[in-house]
Amino acid sequence: MFNSIYKRISTRTYKNETLKDQDQEEIIKIVNQYKSIKGPFGNGFDFTFSLNEKNQEKGKKIGTYGVIKNPPAFIGGVSKNTEESIIDFGFVFENLLLTLTSKGFDSCWLGGTFKRKEYNEKLDENEIIPAISPIGYRADKTTLLEKSMRKLVGARKRLSTDILFKQYNNEKPIDMLDKSFINTCLELVQLGPSASNKQPWRVYLEENIAHFYIERTPKYPSVSLGYDIQALDIGIALCHFTTGLHHFKKNFEYRKLENAITFTNQEYMLSIKFDFE
Ligand SMILES: Cc1cc2nc3c(=O)[nH]c(=O)nc-3n(C[C@H](O)[C@H](O)[C@H](O)COP(=O)(O)O)c2cc1C
Repeated sequence: MFNSIYKRISTRTYKNETLKDQDQEEIIKIVNQYKSIKGPFGNGFDFTFSLNEKNQEKGKKIGTYGVIKNPPAFIGGVSKNTEESIIDFGFVFENLLLTLTSKGFDSCWLGGTFKRKEYNEKLDENEIIPAISPIGYRADKTTLLEKSMRKLVGARKRLSTDILFKQYNNEKPIDMLDKSFINTCLELVQLGPSASNKQPWRVYLEENIAHFYIERTPKYPSVSLGYDIQALDIGIALCHFTTGLHHFKKNFEYRKLENAITFTNQEYMLSIKFDFE
């Protein structure tokens, strides 16, 4: 999982071939395992796997507005439309995608550019499909469209650690030259995928507690999408941070503070208290 964070890259062009039975079975097994995993706020999800069989009779074509090429299959899931559930979805779905990355599969979070109605019609009131992902093997050559898409969102770029990570009590930047395990955990957060690569996560360190905040992008299309897409990014950040803690074999627990410090343009989300030993 730890290495998968370094390996993962949003893949929009897939090999033009169907998934072998063995691959399908492996993916389905992992997807099923994640149905019993819960996020930090205790929500679990009913994930689904579906082949993208273009000629299948009555087959649903999920469609991707041309951004994703040759996707052999998709995985996705349903969440309640609440902030906590969407954060949990981000957390569990990213864990699922990283596990699939560790098995050699490629993926790409899709929050905005798929036809939701055609993916799953049986949604209850107040239920949403926050995101789906194609799953398969990346093509040897990427398309021009993918290249321009990556350039448009500056896909490789990340905000500096000075902006993302600060000390809780004085808002000074963290000394990232100090190669402690906690700085590595922060670097894992920095490497995370986020909607349009906006990287809304902000982390404040207070001794052995990391406080997670969101700095929302003004006018980001949460309103037109009907749900808080950037809450997914916070779940992803929590997933990456805790992947680091697991890697370094540190115990930790989640805490929701009643009176967290307020920082300009940011909203408090959740804290993680970890052991140094
Ligand atoms: C919640 C979420 C939604 C996303 N939605 C889309 C999307 O609709 N279309 C797309 O091409 N990429 C989408 N992405 C992928 C991001 O653009 C990508 O993660 C970011 O540019 C960083 O690139 P990287 O994942 O290769 O590191 C989404 C990512 C996240 C986390």
